[in-house]
Amino acid sequence: MASDTLHAPRERLSKETLALHQAISSLMEELEAVDWYRQRADDCDDAALKAILLHNMKEEIEHAAMALEWIRRNSADFDKELKEYLFSEGDIVGKEKAATGGGEKR
Ligand SMILES: [Fe+2]
Repeated sequence: MASDTLHAPRERLSKETLALHQAISSLMEELEAVDWYRQRADDCDDAALKAILLHNMKEEIEHAAMALEWIRRNSADFDKELKEYLFSEGDIVGKEKAATGGGEKR
């Protein structure tokens, strides 16, 4: 795996940490691509090209969702937080305050 974004010596990282790093890096790249395609589509004056850019943006959203689901399945911490916040209703910050009595989670 080629990555210049490790923040500790590779040999000191577990296989699980390296795999999570790959998944997080991929998720970041997919989200960045979503952002770029959407901005380009907004800026595009050609209707056919704009439709392609928006189609591609949606593909990148799918890729991001797949990477996020892998992260959820392989990280108990992400699993816990995603189960708490995704698809919930109401005030998001208020949900944390209710769960922690007003303090931050640790
Ligand atoms: Fe992608």
